[in-house]
Amino acid sequence: MTTIERHPMIPIAPPVLIEDFYTPEEIDTIFSVIRAKGPWRLILAHHFSSTEEYLAISGGKDRKPDAKLSDFVAPVFRGFLANDGVVFHPELHDIYFGRKLLDTARSLHGAKYGMAHDLLFNLCGPSHSFDAGHFDTGRFRGMGLFNTPIWLLAIMTKSGLFDEWEVKTAQVLTYFARSDVDGGFTYWPQGPDKAPERLTAPFWNTTFLTDNSRMYHRREANGRRDQRDYPELDITSELHAVDGGEWSIRNGDKEIRRFGEDDLRMLVHYTALLFDDVADVRRFQDHTDDLDPDKVFGMLIDDMRSKGATVEVPGDAMNDTAFIAQLTDFYAMAPREYPAEAPLDVR
Ligand SMILES: [Fe+2]
Repeated sequence: MTTIERHPMIPIAPPVLIEDFYTPEEIDTIFSVIRAKGPWRLILAHHFSSTEEYLAISGGKDRKPDAKLSDFVAPVFRGFLANDGVVFHPELHDIYFGRKLLDTARSLHGAKYGMAHDLLFNLCGPSHSFDAGHFDTGRFRGMGLFNTPIWLLAIMTKSGLFDEWEVKTAQVLTYFARSDVDGGFTYWPQGPDKAPERLTAPFWNTTFLTDNSRMYHRREANGRRDQRDYPELDITSELHAVDGGEWSIRNGDKEIRRFGEDDLRMLVHYTALLFDDVADVRRFQDHTDDLDPDKVFGMLIDDMRSKGATVEVPGDAMNDTAFIAQLTDFYAMAPREYPAEAPLDVR
């Protein structure tokens, strides 16, 4: 078998823009569910249980003693609407399982078959973005977020060694943001060491079809610049829908911010797993050609050694911090350039 050398962080295709993706009825359904089924937690709160726990590993060593959570974290709230074939809100069944999302996702790779994976939303008011660019977590036969830490999945993608076990994905990202003050989407379609491109707001029912597990990208800061700080933001802050179509961010009963549709920025995010043909589906479903951590670590160590690195084989690779640091270093890559109109927001 011959394989074509490809930079691991160049997508199958640059984002494809689709205007007016959802029908008015679908938009109504999506907004109704989000308004009715809250309150919703910060993205961060899905991963950390306290502000202290988060700040202990983030924010840098020379963090000021009076640092606030919102110095490091954008006030973006997230809800999972469906995942892995299970719809959490039955109103969304037909959207999640519908042909429109799946056929759109399949078209990016020309894949014959596919299955709906996640459907979630991110919602915020005016806000900073401290995202320096990231790629969505990859999925491999036998290994994915369900059994493997994010750091290892990221190294697997960056190394390019595991492409033949990769389960292809495509994302259908649909944006709702009326404000044209910043708020775009930066992406690096030629790889992280090349110049980025961007799609600029406003958006309303504007879809980007993307290969985000193979492309660095980020949400830009958005909305009125004098409204982007949330000094009272806490890991327990929640987003509530309130009368008049407005949104309220609250710490318990205390409102710390209210905003309306003009200041809303919302992303509806769908991912599908994709398969070239029936054999590809069977390999995935029958687990006849799965990766496991021993094989992955063996291949990574062989690769580093073949390129001149001295590698000591760790006893417990998954938890050996020196080994993890060596992998992270060896396969390091990150965006270098940012659009002049959307510079990196750093504290
Ligand atoms: Fe992403």
